[in-house]
Amino acid sequence: MTLVVARTRDELAAATGQPVPTAVVMTMGALHEGHAELMREARRRLPPQGRIVVTDFVNPTQFGAGEDFDRYPRTLEADLEVCRMHGVDIVFAPSVEEVYDAGALGISVHPGPRGDILEGASRPGHFAGVLTVVGKLLHLTRPDVALFGEKDYQQLVLITDMVRALDFPVIVVGVPTVREPDGLAMSSRNRFLSQDAREQAAVIPRALAAGQAAAASGPEHAAEAARGTLEAAGLDVDYVAVTGPDLLAAPRQGDGRLLIAVRLGDVRLIDNVALQIAGSS
Ligand code: PAJ
Repeated sequence: MTLVVARTRDELAAATGQPVPTAVVMTMGALHEGHAELMREARRRLPPQGRIVVTDFVNPTQFGAGEDFDRYPRTLEADLEVCRMHGVDIVFAPSVEEVYDAGALGISVHPGPRGDILEGASRPGHFAGVLTVVGKLLHLTRPDVALFGEKDYQQLVLITDMVRALDFPVIVVGVPTVREPDGLAMSSRNRFLSQDAREQAAVIPRALAAGQAAAASGPEHAAEAARGTLEAAGLDVDYVAVTGPDLLAAPRQGDGRLLIAVRLGDVRLIDNVALQIAGSS
């Protein structure tokens, strides 16, 4: 199988031609093992004749002013190699002009109230940008299955709900976070960490583990334990939140989620884990 690289909508349409069971993995490139795991999971979910489409597009509308759109790593040749190694059939790597019609500016998908909390509070407009580009890429790639990482948990929840709310004919699959040996979640932004910051970043998974252990005493304890671990190590905390799996209020008992964002120099990192909450009321 040779990999087909499509740079335009027409090239993508020509490459997809026949309707074949299709899985899409949407990325902003700078591919790493986390993205590779989405490709492996895609292959596991497809019949033998199935097709994997990877989109590789740094989406400007999800970056705020002063964020890292300009310096976001762009490594297309290396990305194509990762895709070849994982049996990807088509890579869609369009330009910004190819994706966004200049005449349709200002129209976007509204993420609802959960678009304004957590990442949305720190990055206004971020999820309108994400949901809009994901909606467009779903229409352009027409998959049966779309795979997203739990690493970006709020994104996964909002995409799942958008697909339900707007009746996109696709199954959304969440894939567990792939981590470095010391527990740091793989991220395209890790490459920007100085050696010191990279060592400090190892505190993030430890804070998540402390939160998981403390969840046995209730949601507030989980949040306090995670925040305490981050602050004791001198990390600059953006937020620590304990919620239900749907990002709404944490239950007193049962499934929850612990979500963290920290700043290490000029790099912002996010991570999250599932919690089993079992506190007294
Ligand atoms: P990007 O950050 O490139 O991530 C692409 C996909 O890979 C997302 O679904 C993300 O959750 C997943 N991913 C990233 N790191 C991971 C890890 N360590 N383990 C498992 N999965 C991981 O997320 C985006 O791009 C964009 O917002 C996008 C959805 C492509 C829209 O522009």
